[in-house]
Amino acid sequence: MADLFVKSLQMINPFVVASSPATQGARNVLKSAAMRPGAITMRNFGHGSGGGSFFGPDAATALSGGQAFHSHAVGRQVPDRISTLEQYCEEVRTARQALDSDIQLWVSVGHYSDIVKGGDWEKDWVRQAKELSLAGANALELHFNTPGVAVAKDRIFDYYQLVRHCTTLIRQAAPPQVKVMVKLAIEGCDALTSMRIAQACGADAVGPTARWKAFCMDLDWRRTQPRPGAGYGGTQANPLVCYAVAEARSQGVTLPMYAGGGVFSFEQAAKLIMAGSDCVQFGALACSGGTMACARVIRDLNAWMDRAGYPDMDSLRGDALQLFNMPGDFAKARQNRLGDAYQQAQPDPAKCVGCGRCVDVCWQEGIELADRKAHKTDRCIGCGYCFQVCPTGALHVEAGDILAQAFTAAQDI
Ligand SMILES: Cc1cc2nc3c(=O)[nH]c(=O)nc-3n(C[C@H](O)[C@H](O)[C@H](O)COP(=O)(O)O)c2cc1C
Ligand code: SF4
Ligand code: SF4
Repeated sequence: MADLFVKSLQMINPFVVASSPATQGARNVLKSAAMRPGAITMRNFGHGSGGGSFFGPDAATALSGGQAFHSHAVGRQVPDRISTLEQYCEEVRTARQALDSDIQLWVSVGHYSDIVKGGDWEKDWVRQAKELSLAGANALELHFNTPGVAVAKDRIFDYYQLVRHCTTLIRQAAPPQVKVMVKLAIEGCDALTSMRIAQACGADAVGPTARWKAFCMDLDWRRTQPRPGAGYGGTQANPLVCYAVAEARSQGVTLPMYAGGGVFSFEQAAKLIMAGSDCVQFGALACSGGTMACARVIRDLNAWMDRAGYPDMDSLRGDALQLFNMPGDFAKARQNRLGDAYQQAQPDPAKCVGCGRCVDVCWQEGIELADRKAHKTDRCIGCGYCFQVCPTGALHVEAGDILAQAFTAAQDI
């Protein structure tokens, strides 16, 4: 069994159940603990009746097949059961006492409606930081990712000032043993700049994630949805967050990271970690898939690491950065190798059923049908389009092997 322990944040595994209905109050924190994540972030209070994200009928497809999936607002927001700091602290105390000691309890601090409302919100946030720490929080999490941030930053600060100001405020207020986690929105800012600011202001970890303002439609429901106030996310966010993580790591951001965005299976978790993140968040999956779906992802990551030969988290983290940082001419050389293979490969007459899809998608007159079989012509340039559409495997090259060989060759240079 691969060792999932995360040394940088001293977590039993790299999974954080992100602030959401799945972490609202002690009851849901303890329910989420059934999946045995490394940490759970208790959701802050102050949510109105709007906001949050929920899931249309296509969520079921995604959960069964792991396909790309968008999450968006459809139903009623889970009601906020906590309205005062005293109640919130009580929930933290209850959760901390009942949680296994090896699962960390992170706690959201502050809500952007406080900033929008004005008043002495800084004093409130400092008080929250102190009292939530006393109540047993292992870490305090600042949220620069919710739709509320968009409002707050327009009213008070720009995004970077908001990150700088709040991180400094809470780092100074929290006891040294309580970590300060800074959750960021890659869609709302330049991620690298925000991460550098968080690092400079003494954050202990940074959590880049992504949820956009969007107008989602669900054709299964015959009519579109009203425009939700909540963030839009899903598996398609994953490569974008991977980019932000890899860029930050390549540019010298050394803080522990717990990236999130579209983790629905172990693949997306593995990719975020290979891009350089120490940990990953479960957001929509925890809400829409529940603890069993998340537990499966944790198990699957472990099993895949065994198969792929990664003994521990240190060996997996950042393993894709070499590829991310390969010079541009490497990418071109790699594509050319594949192009050569596409150009040379001939359709397999035993598998060709003469459907003509390859001819339809060829823009070079590189393939034609004769006697209901495909034949390459000397005009094939090796673009590879036809290889993607052939339904029978008559057009096939071992692309993965070719790309891996090219990578190995580049390392030897
Ligand atoms: C229903 C729902 C409610 C959420 N509420 C909050 C919130 O109150 N505060 C917050 O910082 N993030 C909130 N999030 C964002 C998640 O904590 C998490 O960062 C994000 O969903 C991760 O991306 P993923 O859903 O693609 O996994 C919410 C997400 C969902 C799905
Ligand atoms: S590889 Fe490109 S150019 Fe060659 S036959 Fe296929 S589609 Fe045409
Ligand atoms: S797409 Fe494949 S099966 Fe169809 S004609 Fe071309 S080579 Fe034959």
